[in-house]
Amino acid sequence: SILIVDFGSQVTQLIARRVREAGVYSEIAPFNSAADAFARMQPKGVILSGGPSSVMWQDSPRAPQAIFDAGVPVLGICYGQQTMMQQLGGQVEGGESGEFGRAFITVDKDCALFDGLWQPGERHQVWMSHGDKVTQLADGFEVVATSEGAPYAVVANEAKRFYAMQFHPEVVHTPDGGRLIANFARHVCGLTGDWTMAEFRATKIAEIRAQVGPGRVICGLSGGVDSAVAAVLIHEAIGDQLTCVFVDHGLMRLNEAEQVVTLFREHYGINLVHVNAEAQFLEGLAGLTDPEKKRKFIGGAFIELFEAEARKVGGADFLAQGTLYPDVIESVSFTGGPSVTIKSHHNVGGLPERMNMQLVEPLRELFKDEVRALGRELGLPDIFVGRHPFPGPGLAIRIPGEVTKERCDILRKADAIYLEEIRNAGLYDAIWQAFAVLLPVRTVGVMGDLRTYDSVCALRAVTSTDGMTADIYPFDAAFLSRVATRIINEVKGINRVVYDYTSKPPGTIEWE
Ligand code: XMP
Repeated sequence: SILIVDFGSQVTQLIARRVREAGVYSEIAPFNSAADAFARMQPKGVILSGGPSSVMWQDSPRAPQAIFDAGVPVLGICYGQQTMMQQLGGQVEGGESGEFGRAFITVDKDCALFDGLWQPGERHQVWMSHGDKVTQLADGFEVVATSEGAPYAVVANEAKRFYAMQFHPEVVHTPDGGRLIANFARHVCGLTGDWTMAEFRATKIAEIRAQVGPGRVICGLSGGVDSAVAAVLIHEAIGDQLTCVFVDHGLMRLNEAEQVVTLFREHYGINLVHVNAEAQFLEGLAGLTDPEKKRKFIGGAFIELFEAEARKVGGADFLAQGTLYPDVIESVSFTGGPSVTIKSHHNVGGLPERMNMQLVEPLRELFKDEVRALGRELGLPDIFVGRHPFPGPGLAIRIPGEVTKERCDILRKADAIYLEEIRNAGLYDAIWQAFAVLLPVRTVGVMGDLRTYDSVCALRAVTSTDGMTADIYPFDAAFLSRVATRIINEVKGINRVVYDYTSKPPGTIEWE
């Protein structure tokens, strides 16, 4: 295994991800408990992460000395490089100007990290983000790659198998970074690279059992991938100690609620409480047109119903959530400054404190695509695992203006046609999210010599890797006109279809 010592970088989890991609098991330990983790794990290698501190500050974090004395390979990244140099006798100075963003390094010498990848004389793009820099090497080190701003871009002590780099190999903007980390894990540390999702599953199951003991766990299902994968994994670990609660707000897509109930109850045999609250939600939404008011109402009602069900289940000790790593980062503000609320996201974030329950979050270190891989590993059907993201407030935020049962039904039909055509054209997996929006605008049309005066439907499809930024999906005209024709012919209440051509930013993915 590999131990990753965390100095507080925002991208430490990406290092873990790259190590997983290399087929190697790793654990992250904060720098102040790294000595214990090192003694317990006896890892075959150690990676020191970046971090916001400066080694020049008093009391800035350090790597445990034992790591350098144990004879295992060590890779220092950014702050990790600087503390490593300083701890081993080199020098670091504060740069007047830092180096941030894209940079090019020149390879000077062969190095075990570069084997099969980089040759002396080549130039390669990397991603830098540092203010301080190394100015004098520790004994036994030599420079193996340089950049303009960082004469010590990569340094190595091959005899001790210590390596350190100023840039960030873990981010995608260092195109060969994943392979550098794989070289460290496999080639330098001698790990075989046969770790898989199957082992992640087994490890997590053991962890869940250890955490929960004989306790009872309650888990909210949303119909999305994350909560589904979390629930199935936890069920595998503790069986009937788990109860799932599906608060069905009636704002799901066509047949989606039935699919959730059938899959969990019948296929997996999971205890599932299905709260059919459509009437209650529609009643509360009546008259609401402001997007934030709609979101707040739905979020609040959801929590109330969930709590009421949890009380009925009686004395659950743990609350399970399908929190992913990007949710963890987004919920922590590193800037310290006030950030503007664009939309009040619907999640059950406030629940654990209110309900005084401990959290079980087995997906906390994974990224979306890894959760999908785990879902497949757990045998969740592809249609479920590969599903586009769907917002907590459901169709309510795809019906600008007032939400009524009638408008939900119209939208469900149009949306189903659109998605069916996308699947038939083989485009579903190339798209991050595709959905129809029912506008509160009526326009005049003519059908069969008769005048119509009906609603406009907007189609949206975007590509994205994380939902933070997005670009429109460039359908061809024939595809769009096929969908438009079908929707107008088959869905009563819609007589015009338009395509949304807005990227994010400046738009958002959802309309409200
Ligand atoms: P926006 O519209 O902010 O959406 O560009 C970004 C991504 O987040 C999803 N989304 C939500 N997901 N609860 C969720 O769980 C919400 O309240 C919510 N609002 C938007 C949206 O579908 C897209 O994938």
